[in-house]
Amino acid sequence: MSRSKGERTQGDWLPFLATWVRSPLKMGAVAPSSRGYCRMMVKHATTDLDGPVLELGPGLGVVTRTLLEQGVAPERITSIEYDRDFAKKLQQRFPKVNVIHGDGLDLEKTLGPVGQSPKYAAILFAIPIVNMPQARRQALFSSYFERLMPGGNLTQLSYMVTPPVRPVPGVFSVSSSRRVWSNIPPARVWIYSRDRAAEKGAAAA
Ligand SMILES: C[S@@+](CC[C@H](N)C(=O)[O-])C[C@H]1O[C@@H](n2cnc3c(N)ncnc32)[C@H](O)[C@@H]1O
Repeated sequence: MSRSKGERTQGDWLPFLATWVRSPLKMGAVAPSSRGYCRMMVKHATTDLDGPVLELGPGLGVVTRTLLEQGVAPERITSIEYDRDFAKKLQQRFPKVNVIHGDGLDLEKTLGPVGQSPKYAAILFAIPIVNMPQARRQALFSSYFERLMPGGNLTQLSYMVTPPVRPVPGVFSVSSSRRVWSNIPPARVWIYSRDRAAEKGAAAA
């Protein structure tokens, strides 16, 4: 008997928790994001731009599923997941999504040099970076902006109450959604947009 979407999502708690027990720093959360949280993430991502969408740290695909439900064609989505079992399950679950088992913190290695991979309409980021020093976080997010189209943004899942990555003048600014209380733990979406002056430069390039 085939299972409903809701049952499948509930069944994800156990593998998620088991993986968290093995490597808590790589997982960052004990449970998949709630439906309300996923909708908030997708609502703020600039998927309305005409271009591919990049998801980093998809886990078992709760955000991927919301992207599809909100009308993003599966062929537009590339999802990079570090955990081999999760990546395998994700590809089975969403056969038309381009699932890559690789490192979302090293896109040079995973996707190739900036000039040789497409520019993305939006990047949805859910990889834990609590252990990373602030300067490295800023350098990492600045590098993601090299892979975004003009007007494209980067949205980040986070439980923090202050921006996990501080703005980099001339590259990107930061804002946030309201907190989603239905998530465990409550979380908000941090939205990184290209700095206005930098935006003009990217559009002219
Ligand atoms: C907090 S979970 C988020 C899962 C899902 N997006 C959600 O919202 O429920 C973090 C995910 O990032 C993955 N991850 C950790 N480090 C990664 C890396 N360097 N590259 C890609 N994925 C990574 C973990 O395996 C895990 O699936």
